[in-house]
Amino acid sequence: MLDELRALVGEGACSDAPEDLIHWGRDWTRAIAPRPLAVVWPATADHVGAIVQLCARHGISVVPSGGRTGLAAGAVASNGELVLSLDRLRQLGPVDALNCSVTVGAGVPNQVLQDHCLPYALCWPIDLASKGSSSVGGNLATNAGGIKVLRYGHARNWVLGLEIVTARGQLVQLGGALHKDNSGYALQQLVVGSEGTLAIITAATLALAPLPRPTQVGLVACHDLQAVLTLFGTAMSAGLHLHAFEYFSGYCLEQVLAHTGLPRPVATAPAYALVQCELRSGFDLASWLVAHAGVRDGTVAGDHAQAAKLWQYRERITESLQAAKPHKNDIAVPVSALPEFAERLQVWLRRTRPGWQVAVFGHVGDGNLHINTLRPLGMADAAFLDACAQADSELFELVAQFGGSLSAEHGIGLHKKAHLAITRSHAEIGLMRALKLAWDPQGLLNPGKIFDMR
Ligand code: MLT
Ligand code: ZN
Repeated sequence: MLDELRALVGEGACSDAPEDLIHWGRDWTRAIAPRPLAVVWPATADHVGAIVQLCARHGISVVPSGGRTGLAAGAVASNGELVLSLDRLRQLGPVDALNCSVTVGAGVPNQVLQDHCLPYALCWPIDLASKGSSSVGGNLATNAGGIKVLRYGHARNWVLGLEIVTARGQLVQLGGALHKDNSGYALQQLVVGSEGTLAIITAATLALAPLPRPTQVGLVACHDLQAVLTLFGTAMSAGLHLHAFEYFSGYCLEQVLAHTGLPRPVATAPAYALVQCELRSGFDLASWLVAHAGVRDGTVAGDHAQAAKLWQYRERITESLQAAKPHKNDIAVPVSALPEFAERLQVWLRRTRPGWQVAVFGHVGDGNLHINTLRPLGMADAAFLDACAQADSELFELVAQFGGSLSAEHGIGLHKKAHLAITRSHAEIGLMRALKLAWDPQGLLNPGKIFDMR
C-alpha cells in the first residue's frame, strides 16, 4: 500500500518515519499515544480522492489532519490509520469584494486567510488564539468558535460552500458562493463540525465580513466570578456592542505571569474580565468599568498595540497550563443560566474535589467555560485519567441539568465520546449513526471519533 501511495503522490509526500508518525499522528492532546500507519501530504484534491480510494481497497482508515491544534483528540491516529494531511492544499482564490466571499484550500492557515482579505477591508471573523497554525479546513471540520463568537457566531455561520472528498473517493462541490440557496439540504452544514467523520474538506468558499469598527479593550480585576457575570449582564443591558467578554480566574493569571514573564496588568484578584466593545463617541469604557460594584481595579488599552498586549493575558492561558498536562473541558450552558451554574459548579468542586487545582476561564459571553483540572502532585497519569473520567460524568450531569452541552467548541473527538449521551439524546445519536452509515458505509473516515457505531 505504501508503495502504491508513493507512486501516486511522489516519494517525498509520504512517510512512515517514526518521528513523522508521532508529530503528524496527534493534535495538541497528549493522553492518547499516536500510532498511525503512515502520513501522506497530497498536493491536490484529486490526489485526496485517489488516496481515499486506495485506502478503501486496502481497508485502511483515514484520519484527516489540519493544523492539529485540536483539544479533543479528533485528529489523533492511534489505531494504524493513514494520516491524510491537508497541509499542502494552500490555494488562495481571489477575494470577491462585492459578494464578500473567497475560496481557499483547506490547508490555508487562519492567519494567512486574514492577511489575504485585509487589503479589501474584509475578514473571515473566526478569530482564534491558534490562528497562526490552525487551518481553515480544521476550523470548519470542528466548527471552531474562538474569541469573537459573541459578535460573529461560530465558523458554520461563515461558510457558503465546500469542496469535499467522500468516503468513496469522489470529489463533490457542496453549495457554492451563494448567500441564499434554499434548494434542498444544506449538506455543507452537515460536514461542518463533523470532525472528519463524514467527508474530507479540501476547499471552502467562505463568507467575509467588513473589518470590525474600531474597538476598545479593557481588563478588570473583580471580586469573584459572580461579579464578572453581573458585569456582563450590565454590559448587555447597557447595549455596549460587545465583541468579546472573557473571564479568567486569579490562578490562570498567575500561571500566565509565571510562564510568559509579562508584567502584572491590574491588581491581584480572584477573577478577571477582558472586555472588548465598539468605540462609540461619548462612551468611556474605563469610567464605565470602574463604576461597577465588584470591580476592584482595571485598565483600558490606549491603542491597538496595548489592546493586543491585554489579550495576551487571556490568549496565553492554554500554553501556560500545558506543561501540567491539564484535563480539559469546554462546557456550555445558556448564557442566562451561567450565574446559577457557576455557583453550583463551585459548590460541587469544593464539596467533592477539595484538594484539586482547577483552572477556570472562558467565553462567558457565550455561556462557555473552560474547566481545566490539573493533576494533583504525586498522582500517576492513569489514576488521574480515571479520576477525571469520574469527575467528568458528574460535571456533565450538572451541565445537563441546565440544558447545556459537554462541548461548546473543542468537539468530541476521542476524549468526550464516552459521555456524549449525557447531553445528546439516544435518538439524536441514532440519527448521527445513520448519517455516518450513509456517508461512510465502510467506516473509513476518522473512525471512533464522536461516537462508536455500536
Ligand atoms: C481558549 O479559549 O483559549 C481555547 O478554547 C483553548 C483552551 O480551551 O485551552
Ligand atoms: Zn475557548
